[in-house]
Amino acid sequence: MTRRWMILVILLLVALPSVLYARWIKDKVYLETESVGKVEFSHYTHLEMESVGKNCPTCHNSIFHIVTKKNPVFTMADMEAGKACGACHNGTQAFSVAGDCATCHTAAGDIAIQTENVGKVAFSHDVHLGMFGCNECHPDIFKAQNNSNHTSMKAMADGASCGACHDGSTAFSVKDDCTACHAGDIEYANADAGNVNFPHKAHIGMFGCDECHSDLFKPQKGGNKMTMEAMEKGEFCGACHDGSSAFGVAEDCETCHKM
Ligand code: HEC
Ligand code: HEC
Ligand code: HEC
Ligand code: HEC
Ligand code: HEC
Ligand code: HEC
Ligand code: HEC
Ligand code: HEC
Ligand code: HEC
Repeated sequence: MTRRWMILVILLLVALPSVLYARWIKDKVYLETESVGKVEFSHYTHLEMESVGKNCPTCHNSIFHIVTKKNPVFTMADMEAGKACGACHNGTQAFSVAGDCATCHTAAGDIAIQTENVGKVAFSHDVHLGMFGCNECHPDIFKAQNNSNHTSMKAMADGASCGACHDGSTAFSVKDDCTACHAGDIEYANADAGNVNFPHKAHIGMFGCDECHSDLFKPQKGGNKMTMEAMEKGEFCGACHDGSSAFGVAEDCETCHKM
């Protein structure tokens, strides 16, 4: 019963173009998609725009019904033909639904995929969206939800996940340039002793990630309290830089410290 009343009241409000009610309604509403997550729509932002106006009937109920379940599921093709958001987002009244994908699909920005032992891997939607449509990755290769597609480098080398394209022909191979996707070289600013350069790339050429992570080093810049004293006792860099496996921490200060 109360629900019915609510709907009646809302319908009444919608009939009145009003400044007052603009702040009364729910600002953010979400349109769910099956394959690429949800899209946020902001009432307030739109109601502030001159070409829209604080005018509910601009959208309700001709473009969108306020009883949201009465709205069909729109595809991007529907929108390009002028339905739903595409009624205005047509490249003349507002930026087009045929471009600027990430302005509406905001979750499709930069993504950090968390691994268990080797830190975060950055994935840039922007870089890839210049080359591929959403459906070339979603939902077949990746479910559109952060950290819900975990796999191993071995599976990728056999064509799973990023390896579907990063196979050495469509794009650089997951078997080669580890640092293109994983951490690059690391620089520490050290006021007293000169900046320290840790050449990750040079080390990755000699060792597997697991020889350093996570036993010797947490994979996080500045996440390990490294002191020379600890290193001379064989910890951190000193595990190898002992004067036999590699040049020692008690010598060659300037190989690591740039004065
Ligand atoms: C620029 C277009 C636009 C304007 C103008 C607009 N709305 Fe909406 N409204 C939407 C969209 C889009 C939805 C979500 C539709 C869906 O989820 O299918 C929505 C949903 C709603 C809902 C349902 C929310 C829910 O979660 O169930 C209500 C209530 C609503 N609007 C009220 C209003 C009122 C009142 C005004 C005027 C003050 C207004 N709207 C102006 C686009 C608009
Ligand atoms: C003005 C905002 C807006 C822009 C710009 C936009 N989208 Fe969408 N997109 C939506 C909304 C809203 C939905 C969900 C509609 C629904 O569920 O009724 C959607 C749904 C989708 C879907 C799932 C439905 C389908 O058509 O398969 C895909 C995929 C998609 N968008 C891809 C894209 C791509 C690619 C671009 C850029 C070329 C883009 N979108 C630009 C708002 C936008
Ligand atoms: C009645 C016309 C109209 C409808 C319908 C409409 N928009 Fe807009 N929208 C605009 C205008 C006008 C702008 C501002 C002009 C521009 O930036 O090109 C805008 C801007 C936006 C922006 C950028 C906001 C910002 O902070 O700068 C987003 C995101 C957006 N719309 C999403 C949507 C989505 C998602 C839908 C569909 C659910 C939708 N719009 C439906 C008219 C509309
Ligand atoms: C080259 C492949 C690729 C393309 C093309 C692509 N995505 Fe993604 N997307 C990904 C990956 C990888 C993830 C992260 C999955 C994970 O963390 O497990 C992701 C995640 C997402 C998420 C979840 C974000 C979150 O924070 O949970 C959304 C939403 C999404 N993508 C939407 C889109 C939309 C919309 C498009 C097209 C405009 C698109 N994607 C195109 C690969 C792609
Ligand atoms: C195209 C990008 C890419 C390249 C190139 C790449 N990786 Fe990865 N790697 C990833 C992603 C993404 C994950 C996270 C996988 C997940 O959680 O689903 C990952 C996870 C890992 C993991 C943790 C999972 C496991 O298999 O143990 C290790 C270790 C790893 N990578 C090592 C490497 C090494 C060594 C190389 C070079 C031979 C390399 N990676 C090259 C993207 C890449
Ligand atoms: C649908 C195919 C496809 C998938 C899936 C894919 N990529 Fe890519 N990626 C490409 C192509 C093509 C390029 C550009 C060609 C090249 O650089 O070899 C590229 C380029 C890149 C670059 C270089 C970006 C730059 O700034 O130049 C990185 C980093 C990258 N991909 C990471 C990833 C990661 C991490 C994943 C998995 C989470 C992934 N890619 C999944 C096709 C793909
Ligand atoms: C010789 C040792 C060594 C090897 C081998 C190594 N790392 Fe690291 N890694 C480090 C050190 C040292 C740091 C920095 C820790 C600190 O600042 O406290 C680091 C940091 C990281 C970070 C965090 C970067 C940041 O900016 O926060 C990631 C991610 C990472 N490593 C991934 C990897 C991956 C993936 C591999 C294998 C492809 C690998 N590492 C191989 C020593 C190594
Ligand atoms: C798993 C063993 C291992 C660890 C841990 C390690 N290194 Fe190395 N490092 C080596 C080896 C082996 C070489 C090459 C042999 C040599 O030059 O003596 C090397 C070379 C270097 C070089 C010279 C690279 C070049 O391009 O010529 C620098 C600088 C360096 N390491 C810094 C560090 C720093 C800083 C740390 C700690 C944050 C560290 N290493 C941790 C094994 C390691
Ligand atoms: C294998 C590489 C390496 C060599 C060789 C090395 N250091 Fe360091 N040193 C580091 C790293 C890594 C840090 C920590 C940087 C950070 O966390 O900001 C550090 C930090 C320091 C610090 C500040 C922290 C502390 O323990 O007081 C001093 C001072 C220092 N080094 C002096 C020296 C001197 C003097 C030498 C030569 C006898 C030397 N280092 C040789 C890698 C090295």
